[in-house]
Amino acid sequence: MAKILVTGGTGYIGSHTTVELIEQGFEVVIVDNLSNSHEWVLDGIEQITGVRPAFEKFDLCDRERVQQLFRDHPDIDAIIHFAAHKSVGESVQKPLKYYRNNLVSLMNLLEAMNDHHIKGMVFSSSCTVYGEPDELPVTEQAPIKKAASPYGNTKQISEEIIEDQLKAVPSLRAISLRYFNPIGAHPTGLIGELPLGEPENLVPYVTQTAIGIRKMLRVFGDDYNTPDGSAIRDYIYVVDLAKAHIVAIRRILEEKQKKNYEVFNLGTGRGVSVFEIIRTFEEVTGVKVNYVVTGRRPGDIEKIWADPSYANRELGWKAESTLGEALLSAWKWEQHYRKNLEKQKA
Ligand code: UD1
Repeated sequence: MAKILVTGGTGYIGSHTTVELIEQGFEVVIVDNLSNSHEWVLDGIEQITGVRPAFEKFDLCDRERVQQLFRDHPDIDAIIHFAAHKSVGESVQKPLKYYRNNLVSLMNLLEAMNDHHIKGMVFSSSCTVYGEPDELPVTEQAPIKKAASPYGNTKQISEEIIEDQLKAVPSLRAISLRYFNPIGAHPTGLIGELPLGEPENLVPYVTQTAIGIRKMLRVFGDDYNTPDGSAIRDYIYVVDLAKAHIVAIRRILEEKQKKNYEVFNLGTGRGVSVFEIIRTFEEVTGVKVNYVVTGRRPGDIEKIWADPSYANRELGWKAESTLGEALLSAWKWEQHYRKNLEKQKA
């Protein structure tokens, strides 16, 4: 049984991927500094899988501590690296926080990978590297545009750092997965997205408005050059996304890569507007979402969706779930999470 280090394993995509890894027989060690997650996410993982993964709480920017981790766990075979700051807006206010955290932690892991003979790494990247694309759908060959935010820039620079390091050490392996817009929660409603404070992303805002925590969803712009005027994204169900990581990690462990560094788009291939999200949510849940159209959000792009055919073909992976299923799971999670919080307070 291979042993996988999952950094950021108590976070949103990390926790869903940990569940899939455990269910497919992998052993998992999570490292997370809990800067944007909670230790009780481990309870959810344990309730779903029957296994509580090993957990180490520390900051991956601590170079010596990273080395110690690999001395303590000499049997780690590969890494899935999720841990990173991810708020676009905050990164504009605090660029050094983003550059330091996202880049130093990656470099510490790459260094340790080399020192401790780890096979490879799956890296969390983002479709943000494409900016506003010239052609749709977006393939992996689309040009990388100048990043619109320090956060986006850390993803671009991270990919370059990995690529350069793998050129220097050809025995190392890595896969960057460029996520489109992950949404939804585990079908059990036991783990999901946990935004701190007011959500920035669309779907948590929708569910919080539906449940009454927020008064009104703001639709950022209805004057885009799209069929209904609202912006278009490729929303992918988080469990589908998590499954792609298992395929990628096997590809590394089984040495099936075409070259030692590969990049894949992970999306559904379907563009969905903000109004379609609201409408579909209302249809599948029967709950109304109050909204108001406001101005565009600075830095937002008009439309993007993936050409996922390379991942479909090469990884044998495909996003299976419908938008309705994904939104329903987000709603189930919102209800479960709030209920639990209320119980804890009572
Ligand atoms: C953003 C980042 C992306 C990052 C991802 C991480 C930008 C340009 N992109 O994606 O790099 O990887 O978050 O989570 O910031 N919307 C509303 N009302 C809301 C919230 C969102 O109308 O209250 C709209 C947005 O204008 C957008 C769509 O919903 O059209 C999706 O927004 P969001 O969920 O924030 O994701 P992105 O901005 O696509």
